[in-house]
Amino acid sequence: MPGSLNPTAMLRLLGAWNTGAAPAYRELADVVRLLVMDGRIPLDVALPSERALAVTLGVSRTTVTAAYASLREQGFLRGGQGSRGRTGIPHRTIPVSGPGLAAPEGILDLAYASLPATGEVVHRAFADALIDLPALLPGFGYDAVGLPPLREAIADRYTAAGIPTTAAQILVTSGAQHALNIILRTLAGRQQKVLVEHPSYPNALDAIRASGSRTVPVPMPPVAEPASGGGVKPASGGGVEPASGGGVEPASGGWDIDGMVAAMRHQRPAMAYLVPDFHNPTGRIMSNLQRRRLVREAAGTGTVLVVDETLRELNLDAVNTSPLSAFSPAVVTIGSLSKSHWAGLRTGWIRADEDSISRFVQTRTTMDLGGPVVEQLAAARLLRAFAEPLDARLAELRQNREALLGLLAEHLPDWHVERPRGGLTAWCRLPTPSSTALTVVAPDFGVRLAAGPRFGVGGAFEHFMRVPYTLAPAQLETAVLALRDAQARIDASPQLRTTLKAPKEPAAVA
Ligand SMILES: Cc1ncc(COP(=O)(O)O)c(C=O)c1O
Repeated sequence: MPGSLNPTAMLRLLGAWNTGAAPAYRELADVVRLLVMDGRIPLDVALPSERALAVTLGVSRTTVTAAYASLREQGFLRGGQGSRGRTGIPHRTIPVSGPGLAAPEGILDLAYASLPATGEVVHRAFADALIDLPALLPGFGYDAVGLPPLREAIADRYTAAGIPTTAAQILVTSGAQHALNIILRTLAGRQQKVLVEHPSYPNALDAIRASGSRTVPVPMPPVAEPASGGGVKPASGGGVEPASGGGVEPASGGWDIDGMVAAMRHQRPAMAYLVPDFHNPTGRIMSNLQRRRLVREAAGTGTVLVVDETLRELNLDAVNTSPLSAFSPAVVTIGSLSKSHWAGLRTGWIRADEDSISRFVQTRTTMDLGGPVVEQLAAARLLRAFAEPLDARLAELRQNREALLGLLAEHLPDWHVERPRGGLTAWCRLPTPSSTALTVVAPDFGVRLAAGPRFGVGGAFEHFMRVPYTLAPAQLETAVLALRDAQARIDASPQLRTTLKAPKEPAAVA
């Protein structure tokens, strides 16, 4: 790595930085910051002296001095005034990554699609769990399959939904992500292929990559383009058909089943990781027709369908579908309390046939020896009264969703927004490939985002942004106005867009 950058090299990297859309020093600082964050200017590199850069750029020295001062203040430049500052990344950073229990102060967090705990209910479940605890204290506390009362409560919920399930078919995990890792290690592994929807859930894509498996991305069909203008479009596959009894059924079309079948036949993936229930990020739901066909075809090619139902309970439009496991006992299902109740519970599960569960347990014990007891006791309580907090959560989410869709239509009319049928997020097509640039600029306006490419492989989805409706309408308004302003900054400085591609280090997202 070079230890310093000469003015000519910097001029080339900066490109057409000076658009006149903002004070010159601001534009200069913005572009340098983006170059550093993008890795195009490496860390710990000395930038040209103020005088030399001013001459090369044909601007006043004051402009460069002010730009460098701003970069120093933000932590992107180290070293005292006068000396040649070296590039760095702020410790106390503009929070483009770094999850936590609380959103960073002053920042609206749209990178995480997650909700606070369902009020009192979770707290009460923990209080009750402490009452249940003494009975278990004489035991060792290790249980790699999960506490019996929790496994039974989970199994009973499937049975009540028309999918007979015993506790022996349930393995309790520390959340859905843990469940997926156990499954990957058991069913996939080095050089094997895993079919995924494209886009898909970023942490799942990371897990597949980390397992050494190769992803086989199958594009989800785009939403139909509107005849004119932007605004909210019904999701393809989101058209509503009347159902015979209660609820509505989604129309077919949200998934390219032909494409998935072709991929399964030709690529022979060991498993497919799918989110058919309020897919993250699109919010789509797969029709029963598509589910049936998928299960039939997967059986023919020997691909294990692994279905992540983490978002299934967030059924905002009362859509009527059967869980994929209803169509075949070979389906492996992942569940979680993270979205229905609270991610802080770190409680999820795998539902599968008993033999598969035994294999998963063996894998699990190579990673950990069981979940914490109190959390499992609390989770068992929550599962027994599952619906209690859900109505209020759904009502709130419906309100948030309408607020977000209205705000986006009003303030960002050239964003094409797919109307989500459930879940927590809206998937928006941007008029320009500026998702990463928006993600980098947005913290300046008080918003943290997850860029579209986090949801794909190979840098796809620079044209897309996922926007969660997990905030209250008033906060969503502030966030959308901030997005509008961030977008305006990028539109005014095309260099910001062209400078940035997907970041090399994936940002935290859920
Ligand atoms: C589809 C999907 N799967 C899994 C997870 C993570 O779930 P958990 O917190 O149970 O690990 C999320 C969280 O956003 C998700 O959206």
